[in-house]
Amino acid sequence: MKYLPLFADLEGRECLVAGGGENAARKLRLLLRAGARPTVVASAINAEIRALARDGKVRVVQRADGLPDLSRRRLAAYALIVVADADSDTAEAFAAAARQANIPVNVVDRPDLSTVVFPGIVERDPILVAIGSAGAAPVLVRRLREQIEALLPSRLGHLARFAQRFRTAIAGTQPDSGRRRRFWEIFFDGPVARLVLEGREPQATSAMLRLVNSGTAPSLEGSVALVGVGPGDPDLLTLRALRAMQDADVVVYDRLIGDRILDYVRRDAERIYVGKARGNHAMNQEAINALLVAQARAGRRVARLKGGDPFVFGRGGEEMAHLQAASIAVEIIPGITAATGCAAAAGLPLTHRDYTSGVTFVTGHMRDGAPEPDWASLAATRHTLVIYMGVATAGIIGDRLVAHGMRPAMPVAVIENGTRPEQIVARGTLATLGATVAGRGIVGPALIVIGDVAALARESAPGVDARAQAYAQA
Ligand SMILES: C[S@@+](CC[C@H](N)C(=O)[O-])C[C@H]1O[C@@H](n2cnc3c(N)ncnc32)[C@H](O)[C@@H]1O
Repeated sequence: MKYLPLFADLEGRECLVAGGGENAARKLRLLLRAGARPTVVASAINAEIRALARDGKVRVVQRADGLPDLSRRRLAAYALIVVADADSDTAEAFAAAARQANIPVNVVDRPDLSTVVFPGIVERDPILVAIGSAGAAPVLVRRLREQIEALLPSRLGHLARFAQRFRTAIAGTQPDSGRRRRFWEIFFDGPVARLVLEGREPQATSAMLRLVNSGTAPSLEGSVALVGVGPGDPDLLTLRALRAMQDADVVVYDRLIGDRILDYVRRDAERIYVGKARGNHAMNQEAINALLVAQARAGRRVARLKGGDPFVFGRGGEEMAHLQAASIAVEIIPGITAATGCAAAAGLPLTHRDYTSGVTFVTGHMRDGAPEPDWASLAATRHTLVIYMGVATAGIIGDRLVAHGMRPAMPVAVIENGTRPEQIVARGTLATLGATVAGRGIVGPALIVIGDVAALARESAPGVDARAQAYAQA
């Protein structure tokens, strides 16, 4: 370990910043956030630093010539010296003087001259995460910072302050340090902490007061999040979905969830596959409902991953109702549904106002005995139609809509594996819908888009569509 990470208390302390450009301004912003009292020494000062000086936040010593007095005696007043926007000679002179005076010094972009470095930070005050690479890979540090930024709940600081408010009270009710630690471990995983993170602090306070007054440790209550994970491209996960996947003790998923999404699940979470290919259910819906309840009752946080959005043809409503009936806390995390994800990936504007006044989502899945969709009104609507689960019945859908008066030449686009690397976009007409699906070897998951906007879809280049070629040769 080249550097020992320490957090410096600079509240009210004098710091010296050599330089008056953008680098100096960036460091000044940080120093001011930490409550330091900076003095800037430079020959030229940029507008931001001038404004800070006008507001009395920094003291500026403008010098047209050479170096200031760097004697040990003069420098002793400073808790930290930062050298920014300086030429090499100036930087080396400051660094040497600071070392001699035993004052921590940071020279921007010169780790060789620095005794301390500024880490990348993610701030949820009072929580602070610092990341460094000892100068080896600053761009990697920035990437990591972005990833941690995305992972940490925005109200994490509120949670830390909430816990702080109750520290003394909990120390009173839980005098044994082991039990106290266990209390806080359970607390941070439990429902009260969740209320704080959701911004429901009054309810969290009441719940916490009940816990404090009863003198008991909170029990670990399980919960289920129905997490919409979008159509397949992990970049389309929401931040909330990502957090639920990282928090979960157990993840329940089915066939629509690819490995690229599962890569974002916490490494040590248990994974339970519940199948669900068409007509080949590894576990039926009742068994899935029972599994979710049993896992939550065992005190576990369950993430039930659903392709697209949980409430769009996802049976999320049924799972939610079942969990609520069993008094299990359930959270719904919306996702990008296949229609919007696939349309974007195919460059197909679903409601382009030159072509349509709306969009209708329909299931093409025709269950035995269940009534068929209302073809007459679907054929009459001037909406774009998006058919989910319609691959197996594509020919019937085309025939029914034509029979009910939709024009046979109506443009159609079929998007298979939308947003994924193996995406196929095939264009055709309503009259040839069945043939288009069969001709391109489309087996799903696929969406059928019917309407004038479908003519705008970017069709997959034939050379890219390897499976269709193999199909054509067979
Ligand atoms: C059971 S539904 C689930 C829909 C999901 N809840 C949503 O909001 O997208 C499954 C159907 O969604 C569509 N689908 C899901 N992901 C898709 C993708 N990546 N490309 C094309 N269609 C997809 C297909 O029509 C598939 O048969």
